[in-house]
Amino acid sequence: MSEKFPLTGISSVAMHAAGHQNAEDAHLTPIFATSTFTFDTAEDGMNRFAGTDKTRVYSRWGNPTFTAAEETIAALEAFGLKDKNGNSLQLKALLHASGQAAMTTLFLGNLKTGDAILSHYSLYGGTQELMTKVLAATGIEAIIVDMRNLNKVEEAIQQYPNIKMVHIETPANPTIQCVDIEAVSKIAKTKGLIVSVDNTFATPYLQQPFKYDVDFVFHSTTKFLNGHGTAIGGVLIGKDLEKMRTSIWKWHVLLGGNSNPFDAFLLAQGMKTLELRMERHCANAQKVAEYLEQHPAIAKVNFTGLVSHPDHAVSAKQMRLPGAVMSYELKGGLDAGKQFINKLQMCVRAISLGTVDTLVSHPASMSHFGIPREERIKYGITDGLIRMSVGIENIDDILNDLEQALK
Ligand SMILES: Cc1ncc(COP(=O)(O)O)c(C=O)c1O
Repeated sequence: MSEKFPLTGISSVAMHAAGHQNAEDAHLTPIFATSTFTFDTAEDGMNRFAGTDKTRVYSRWGNPTFTAAEETIAALEAFGLKDKNGNSLQLKALLHASGQAAMTTLFLGNLKTGDAILSHYSLYGGTQELMTKVLAATGIEAIIVDMRNLNKVEEAIQQYPNIKMVHIETPANPTIQCVDIEAVSKIAKTKGLIVSVDNTFATPYLQQPFKYDVDFVFHSTTKFLNGHGTAIGGVLIGKDLEKMRTSIWKWHVLLGGNSNPFDAFLLAQGMKTLELRMERHCANAQKVAEYLEQHPAIAKVNFTGLVSHPDHAVSAKQMRLPGAVMSYELKGGLDAGKQFINKLQMCVRAISLGTVDTLVSHPASMSHFGIPREERIKYGITDGLIRMSVGIENIDDILNDLEQALK
């Protein structure tokens, strides 16, 4: 968008930040289903190789359909924020085939053998395994602490001078624990550490980590950004534009985790309704959490919109609304949990989250299956824990479905 007409609302940004990205003036950026791009002359080819914009060379390097989605995400994360000089914050996003691919670029692009990464003890299972298996195999150590306790963060940084990066996931999957981004980033920055935030559960509508001086934000775009469950994807967003265009881009293309034009197109369309969807997701989730909290069959509800949640204050400080993912335990443990899931009539039994319809899953046997039992129990992922991503259906239907399944 033009500097002369700064957009004042995040939905306007979601719809207009990227422009049309095509010479034919198609309203929507088309699906550029092409592996490679033509050069008018040898010199034209040389210039494109040498230039900073590698969008029109080879689709592992970039593609105009990716650019449309990347520019939108970068604009959403930067919305209303300023850089150190008081100018509008500029960010660069790199779209990937999956959240896991984007995270691999994030970690391998910033760490080397002998370094360590500090992270929270409740994380998405794939992130945890990536750290403890893939990074470990390359000689990069994962130090895992309860990052809600700032003393533990300070102690770990003191004890392990090889920590180069701090990775925060907040709200964390599936316990919905929240880490104070501002406080952890402040501690990390006094030691010159790189800080990254997994913003998947919150989306830039609810939480903008770049407010707190972090270096990278990461999303599994598979979730709320796409919003409709139509494609797997991931994105890495950075504020050091030069680093994003050079070393991070290099790792991205060498690892080969590029997106594809069809998935990028679906993502670009999904993001246009982010604000509307999130408002409804969050309003429904609040009602579901309040209903479950008072239900006699429920032992515990993890949702930061409830004042009973220990991270309520941190969530209220850094998030516009508490999100739409929660987890809860039934009084009858695993068996009661299984029976409840099987009785659901409308809510969908599936992993993943952030789709327009309500999804219900069982982390111990699904998303966190790869994590040893003692470890996952230590992190709060008990055998009977149910995770629910509340959709945008009419609230009465969601509540009626829960009511009949809990009987
Ligand atoms: C918080 C979080 N981060 C990362 C990922 C990995 O993303 P993907 O499945 O798109 O590779 C997930 C997937 O569920 C997630 O929930």
